[in-house]
Amino acid sequence: MQQSTLNSTPVAPEHSDHLRRDFSEMSERKPSFFHRFLFARPPVLVVFIIAIFLLASVLYLDKNTGPFAISYFYAMPVLLMAWYLGRKAGFLMMVITMLTWYSADRLGYSGVTLPLKYAIANAITRVVLLSIAVLILCAFKDLNTQLEKMVEERTKSLRRLATQLSEAEDIQRRRLAHDIHDGFSQMLSALKLSLAASLSESRQDSPQWNRIKSSIDIVSDLINNARTLTFDLHPAMLEHLGLTPTLRHHAKQFTQQTGIDVTINEEDVSQSLPPVITNYIFRAVKELLNNSAKHGHAKQIIVSLYWSPASLRIVVDDDGSGFEPGVVLAPDVTRGLGLASIQERLGSFGGNVRIESNTQTGTRAVLEVPVTQEQHA
Ligand SMILES: Nc1ncnc2c1ncn2[C@@H]1O[C@H](COP(=O)(O)OP(=O)(O)O)[C@@H](O)[C@H]1O
Ligand SMILES: [Mg+2]
Repeated sequence: MQQSTLNSTPVAPEHSDHLRRDFSEMSERKPSFFHRFLFARPPVLVVFIIAIFLLASVLYLDKNTGPFAISYFYAMPVLLMAWYLGRKAGFLMMVITMLTWYSADRLGYSGVTLPLKYAIANAITRVVLLSIAVLILCAFKDLNTQLEKMVEERTKSLRRLATQLSEAEDIQRRRLAHDIHDGFSQMLSALKLSLAASLSESRQDSPQWNRIKSSIDIVSDLINNARTLTFDLHPAMLEHLGLTPTLRHHAKQFTQQTGIDVTINEEDVSQSLPPVITNYIFRAVKELLNNSAKHGHAKQIIVSLYWSPASLRIVVDDDGSGFEPGVVLAPDVTRGLGLASIQERLGSFGGNVRIESNTQTGTRAVLEVPVTQEQHA
């Protein structure tokens, strides 16, 4: 079993309940445990209690291990507070730790009683060193936060740009489709009518009649081609009837052209998506159907749409020859760009695509896009 991204769901021969069960698992890539641990925001009191507990433990160990052995560990509670609660909390903990440490030195807690001037000198050195450590640590954390914010903002603006590009492409496609429909197709229809008139005026089965007849056939083919081209460029029914009926319409045509049985299933009530996304999803599903026919030589394809309040998930299953999907999602000049561009484009809408494939059961492509508006902002 090969699969390309995050998930380990095996390819099922047909759609079943597990798709619905793991619907919610298909969210954004989760940060690692280490990252979550480091950048968690625990409650202030919890951090403070842990810091005090650490200080008490170090103090206890200090008493039992003798002088100097674990002095550096006194930095732990200070750094802990500085990392999770910020600069001021770090300095506060440093004062508490230094006072404790100073008292331990003066009371001979770890076996040696330091004279006053050494204890004060020690305390000053520690304060300076720990202050520097706190400042560096907090600067590092701030830098990280700033970088994360910057990346988030850049990602948002890239998404906006991708959406704008997509919208501009849609406008051009629509304009071209209208031009073809209103100009070219109308003229072809007029030509067909005129040829039909000439046909009726000529003697049946004469050479002239046959020529006109075959011209009419060619013009009819051209009219059909223009219609397909207009639908490919901009399926007007997408705006009027919505995604599922348009997919059904396309599936019917696809079956007529290829002989492949295509079923479209829809679960739950469809919700409105921005036109730019609906347009793109339609094109993506078309690409997946073409792949199943062209590469997988499938006999049957099932397309299922699962709507949830937060997202739309589309699963395209074929029973074709399957392939090794690991590499195809990364853009590469030596390969086709179909799947890679679906990945890019859906990513720009805040969605994602997964491909699972093997040679026994075929290929499954799972597309997911968020339905909520703020994701598309
Ligand atoms: N449904 C499928 N069945 C079998 N192989 C597939 C399928 N979809 C994609 N592939 C394989 O993945 C490759 C990349 O597909 P794609 O990115 O759409 O590019 P292209 O269709 O232009 O070759 C294909 O060349 C094919 O080898
Ligand atoms: Mg392709």
